[in-house]
Amino acid sequence: MKILGIESSCDETAAAVVEDGRNVLSNIVSTQIEKHKIFGGVVPEIASRLHTESVSFVVNEALKQAGAVISDIDAIAVTYAPGLIGALLVGVNYAKGLSLSSGIPIVPVHHLRSHIASNYITHGKLEPPFMCLVVSGGNTMLCMVKDYTDFEVVGRTRDDAAGEAMDKAARTMGLPYPGGVNLDKASRQGNADAFKFPNPSVENSPFDFSFSGLKTNVINIKHNARQKGETIPTEDLGASFIKAVVNSLESRTLKALEKYGADTLVLAGGVSANSVLRETMLADSKKYGFKLYLPELSLCGDNAAMVASQGYYEFISGKRGDMSLNAFATMPITESD
Ligand code: KG4
Repeated sequence: MKILGIESSCDETAAAVVEDGRNVLSNIVSTQIEKHKIFGGVVPEIASRLHTESVSFVVNEALKQAGAVISDIDAIAVTYAPGLIGALLVGVNYAKGLSLSSGIPIVPVHHLRSHIASNYITHGKLEPPFMCLVVSGGNTMLCMVKDYTDFEVVGRTRDDAAGEAMDKAARTMGLPYPGGVNLDKASRQGNADAFKFPNPSVENSPFDFSFSGLKTNVINIKHNARQKGETIPTEDLGASFIKAVVNSLESRTLKALEKYGADTLVLAGGVSANSVLRETMLADSKKYGFKLYLPELSLCGDNAAMVASQGYYEFISGKRGDMSLNAFATMPITESD
């Protein structure tokens, strides 16, 4: 079964054709990074306009590279939530138009579910159930993936997402957008013990995260140094900040694995590309004896292969969208809370 995936939730316009949920026939990503760079972050209005300009070309290219025409496609999977509302609407409306003209059904796909599905592509034999740490730019959560379309939220961030905190801390340190990846690179040789950060906890919620205080710590450290006329080595501050974020993710994940008796951990989302997080989880998997699955680096960020993969599982479970399908800026991964 061939699924065409369409993704436009933030600053990548992407389309892909995936067979039976796992076999990627094409995966086209048109990134807007260069256009947003001068503003230091994603400008939603510009993102929507750029999606509109490229979606048609990107979809046609995905079909072409898959050696397919639209009539070969069994379903059109499209990201409909969560994300930038104007950006999401471009993909959703394009999918509706394509569905109307071709008669091919639409499958709405939750963005975080699709990040998790990037692991089904990377690891051909991976199947639920497993514990998943989802760490992206807009969301951070721990969830039990009980089945391909059945999720239980175990913990979540109460304020910033890990990626958002990385991006904002990077900007405070004067690093260019996209912050998370530049912070990772700039901090590789830094001393992670140079600055002390707390491990913030949320009362009575052992699996919830809080990252905004860590971000404010970075702002205060920079501010105090500036007042004293001191300069702070970015690699040391960056390495210490990353260590604090990773410690917070690690401690709750280990507790959740134990509490839920899970023997498999999967990472998903843009921040799962972070080198310290990957190394830390790899060391933990050996130390504590759980199975660890990491998405390949090229599938950590937003792409449409993951949308088509999750779309396949949603499609065979019976999910369908129609011409009333809307986009939503926020939406729980359970899609029902
Ligand atoms: O999952 P994603 O591509 O977009 C959302 O769905 O939100 O995640 C993007 C986030 C950004 O905040 C970016 O800074 C972060 O992932 N990111 C990283 C790295 N690569 C991307 N954060 C830390 N280290 C990285 N290597």
